Amino acid sequence: MNYIGSKFSLLPEIRGMLAEKGLKGGVFCDLFSGSTVVSQMAKGLGFSLISNDLQTYSAVFGRAFVASEGYPDFSRLREEVPEIEKTFLRIEGKELWIGDERQRIQTFGLGTFSDESLLEGKELLLVLIFLDRLAPREGRFFQAYCEGGTAGRSYFSRENGQRCEAIRATIEDWKNRGWLAISEHALLLASLIESMDLLANTASVYGAYLKKLKTSARQALRLRFPLLPRGKGGRVLQGDSNQIIRQLAQEGRFDVLYLDPPYNRRQYHSNYHILETLACWDLDKFEPAGKTGLRPVESRRSDYCLKRGAAKAFADLIEAANFRHLLVSYNNEGIVPEEEIKEILLRKGGKADFRKIPYRRFRADQDSAERNYRGDQVEEFLFYIDRNK
Ligand SMILES: C[S@@+](CC[C@H](N)C(=O)[O-])C[C@H]1O[C@@H](n2cnc3c(N)ncnc32)[C@H](O)[C@@H]1O
Repeated sequence: MNYIGSKFSLLPEIRGMLAEKGLKGGVFCDLFSGSTVVSQMAKGLGFSLISNDLQTYSAVFGRAFVASEGYPDFSRLREEVPEIEKTFLRIEGKELWIGDERQRIQTFGLGTFSDESLLEGKELLLVLIFLDRLAPREGRFFQAYCEGGTAGRSYFSRENGQRCEAIRATIEDWKNRGWLAISEHALLLASLIESMDLLANTASVYGAYLKKLKTSARQALRLRFPLLPRGKGGRVLQGDSNQIIRQLAQEGRFDVLYLDPPYNRRQYHSNYHILETLACWDLDKFEPAGKTGLRPVESRRSDYCLKRGAAKAFADLIEAANFRHLLVSYNNEGIVPEEEIKEILLRKGGKADFRKIPYRRFRADQDSAERNYRGDQVEEFLFYIDRNK
């Protein structure tokens, strides 16, 4: 996922910090999990995960990658929709033969690509191929967000919009009939969200769409195969971290608490509203608003994105948290200044270690009066507190 604040490129540093501090197992709590890449990595390292975020698409990724233990077999669905099994499938390395048609397998997720993972996920692969071949359809999603839709918003090409509508509506129908287990539903949805995100006709986020279809948006939708990290199935929550931390504090101390709050004023609910709608599939409950087709502004607004709320929310979270080891990601252009973060963290006591990592910036849009970037490099901070000492 192309996600603001994703720590995908910083995973080696985070992994390195965990190794250096001798942190190998126990409960790892990722309270702002976003694309879930940090949770996926920690799961693969042997931690027991608790993963939380405000957004529904993040919870979908969490249920697909963090909560799961291996690939589900879609047994009920295959019984109800026997056509799924009729595809003749042969896997040769990274290539897939469907009948006599050859395709390259496209994947996502932090698991390892191997013949074994494909074999274990063979039923999932069959379902994805079945969904990929559904006849295009026009419905509320197409009309609201796709080229040729009545709303005139071109977030996706006409063809991809029609196929997405058919796939998403079918997944919903299967779920409503009780043909999908939770993990099966999440894996199909995560694949659709990831695959559509890569074809979005935007400069980067969903705050606006481009008028003309860009080259990548013209490519045909193909559902990607999720590579699941090995490890124990974790817990996935969806709520405000400042409330969740209080519920979790009653259960005892986390071994590692990882915090990666938003650091600027870009609210995730508006910048990723289309992914949220794909996850919720609730266009029967609201009318997309304005030029960009936003969802109703509701409780998903985060204090961490507000100049007057971020430091207070962060201090409140740290105050309520119960952990042995704390890792916090932030950066030098964040709303809360470095010194203030340090001061808040040090109030908690323990042995501290602060690192700065030069990092290429996420450019969501052009420089403007509101957003004046200071070059292409930012400094990512990694704050560590050890309260065992
Ligand atoms: C910097 S991103 C996290 C990125 C993530 N670590 C990754 O690598 O993809 C911040 C995340 O915090 C979430 N968020 C914002 N406010 C929140 C809150 N009060 N409680 C829980 N999650 C929140 C956003 O939805 C967003 O996914």
